[in-house]
Amino acid sequence: MSQMSVDRWVGSSALAPADGPVTQDELIAEINRLRKERNAVLLAHNYQIPEIQDIADFTGDSLALARQAAKTDADVIVFCGVHFMAETAKILSPEKKVLLPDLAAGCSLADTITAEQLREWKRQHPGAVVVAYVNTSAEVKAEADICCTSSNAVEVVQSIPEDKEILFLPDMFLGSYVEKMTGRKMHIWMGECHVHAGIHPDDVARLAQEHPDAELLVHPECGCSTSAMYEVAAGGLPSNTALLSTGNMIKHVRNSPAQSFIVATEVGILHRLRQENPGKRFVPASEEAVCPFMKMITLEKVYRSLKDDVYPIEVDAEIAARARRAIERMIEIG
Ligand code: 13P
Ligand code: SF4
Repeated sequence: MSQMSVDRWVGSSALAPADGPVTQDELIAEINRLRKERNAVLLAHNYQIPEIQDIADFTGDSLALARQAAKTDADVIVFCGVHFMAETAKILSPEKKVLLPDLAAGCSLADTITAEQLREWKRQHPGAVVVAYVNTSAEVKAEADICCTSSNAVEVVQSIPEDKEILFLPDMFLGSYVEKMTGRKMHIWMGECHVHAGIHPDDVARLAQEHPDAELLVHPECGCSTSAMYEVAAGGLPSNTALLSTGNMIKHVRNSPAQSFIVATEVGILHRLRQENPGKRFVPASEEAVCPFMKMITLEKVYRSLKDDVYPIEVDAEIAARARRAIERMIEIG
C-alpha cells in the first residue's frame, strides 16, 4: 500500500462519530428519509460492506457505476466506493453534487502513478496511445487518450490502430491479460493493487484441486490472473476458468449451470453472489482479499454524508474536460 493511501486511511479514524440515530434500523430509516428529501441516489461498488449494498439504489462494477452516474436524474450522488470512482461520477455529471462519505477511501493501485510520471512516460514514447484503467486520478485520466475498466479493456485495446504504440497503465496484471487476449505488445506500467496481488497462483491451484467441480472466476487484477491463463492451457486449472470484472462475475454465475465457484477477487462480492444464488456454493480464493478502502464506507458515514453534505468531490474544470474525453471514448466502445 502506498504511503499516500495509508495516510488517507489513518486520517479517517480521526472523524467524529455521527450524532443522531444509533441503531442500524434508525440509521437506515434516516438515510431513506434524507435521500428522498434530497433526491439523492446511492451508488455502491460490489466490494462494499453488505449493509451498504443492501440499501444502495444500484450496485455494480466500475463501468456500470460510471454509466449510472452519467444517466441519473438525481440531484445528489452518494458514492459508496473509492475516491477515483466518485471523481469519475463528478466528471461525467459535473452539474450534480457528488458526495464521498469518507475522503480517506483511496486506492493503492491508483496511487501507483501520478500525472507527472505519466507525462514523463509519454515524453519517452511520443505518438503512443495512452490507455488508462479507471483506477487512476482525474489528473492522470486527463493525460490519457482513452480509459478502460476490467470489463472492457480488451475491446478498448482492440479499437486502437495496429500500427500505434500503446502505453497501458497502471495495473500490470490487467495489462498482461490484455496483451494475451489481443496479441498486442504494449508498454505496461508496473503498478498493482495490493489486495489482488495478494491472491497467489499456488493457493488458487490448490483450491481448484480441492473443489474439482467448481468453476474458477478470476478478476484480471489478480496476481494469479496471468499464470491462470497458462495453467488452463497446461491442464493445471479447470478449463472452465473465466477472467471477469466483478459485474461480469455476477452475470456469469447467474447463467452458469455450475453449483460451486472459486472466487478470486475482493471478498465483498461474495455477499451479492450468495444473496442472488442461494443454492450455489462460493469459496473465496483468499479470505484475506479485503480492500480496506472499500470497507471505510459505513451506514453511519452515509447518513452523515446526506445530513451534512460531506464530502463533496470537485474536479478542476480544465482537467475534468480532458478526463471526460477519455472516459466518454471508453463508454462509447462498451
Ligand atoms: P471492477 O470494475 O471489476 O468492479 O473492479 C474495480 C476495482 O477496483 C477492482 O479492484
Ligand atoms: Fe483499489 Fe485494489 Fe481496493 Fe480495487 S481492491 S479499490 S484496485 S485497492
